[in-house]
Amino acid sequence: MENSGNFAFDDFGKRDGMTPGKVADVFTNAAGTYDEVWASRNYRDHIYIAEGMADYFQADVRDSVRILDAAAGTGMLAEQLWARGFSQIDGLDPSTGMMTEAMKKGVYTDYYLEFMDGHTIKQLVTDSYNGLVAAAAFNTGLLPCAALLEMARLVKPGGLICFGVPDARFTDVKEYNNRLEPLMQRIEQDGLWKLLDKKHYDDFYDDANPGNVFRYIVCASDVNVKQYV
Ligand SMILES: C[S@@+](CC[C@H](N)C(=O)[O-])C[C@H]1O[C@@H](n2cnc3c(N)ncnc32)[C@H](O)[C@@H]1O
Repeated sequence: MENSGNFAFDDFGKRDGMTPGKVADVFTNAAGTYDEVWASRNYRDHIYIAEGMADYFQADVRDSVRILDAAAGTGMLAEQLWARGFSQIDGLDPSTGMMTEAMKKGVYTDYYLEFMDGHTIKQLVTDSYNGLVAAAAFNTGLLPCAALLEMARLVKPGGLICFGVPDARFTDVKEYNNRLEPLMQRIEQDGLWKLLDKKHYDDFYDDANPGNVFRYIVCASDVNVKQYV
């Protein structure tokens, strides 16, 4: 397992069965080359999410919009948000190596070394943010379904949650199979968020790998996680 880190970073199935801490270590080991690898694979999920945020928050308000980037990694999404006029961005990710790379870029105000997995992140107060984004965050060993509930808690009513999910993940990833989409719908039925839209793209990475960018408007933040998991 010691030498498998760099493979599990971009061969997703190898993360199956790893503890969350081990997954964070995989990314720490790969952090130094992360941007280069994914740029060479024409990674685009983060670009589509930044476009989704810019479409919702008009240019004249963007510099005061507070955003949490969940599974922030090295800050590739935050760079795209800055390019569109957003500047109040916090990152959250459990990987020390990814944080180190991100902080070199100066794109985050604060960076929380935390897992988003449904537990209440004590440092972060309910309704702290106007927006929450997550790119390349739904995959084997990354955000569990319950993370959606903590996302809803952290965003103010009227705020936007925007994340991408490649189509194949809904079935290929055991954690999500028959669970992720039903939970997204149940959260809506229970009045915590409302789907603004989902936009389909053909090429999340490798000029292939189609998926959707989901945009949810938060309606309420009094989330009772135990009711769902
Ligand atoms: C594929 S990278 C995506 C990074 C970044 N969002 C991007 O677009 O490049 C996935 C990131 O999720 C982080 N991660 C893994 N489990 C997590 C969890 N439960 N909560 C938050 N981040 C997590 C990893 O440490 C890694 O940095």
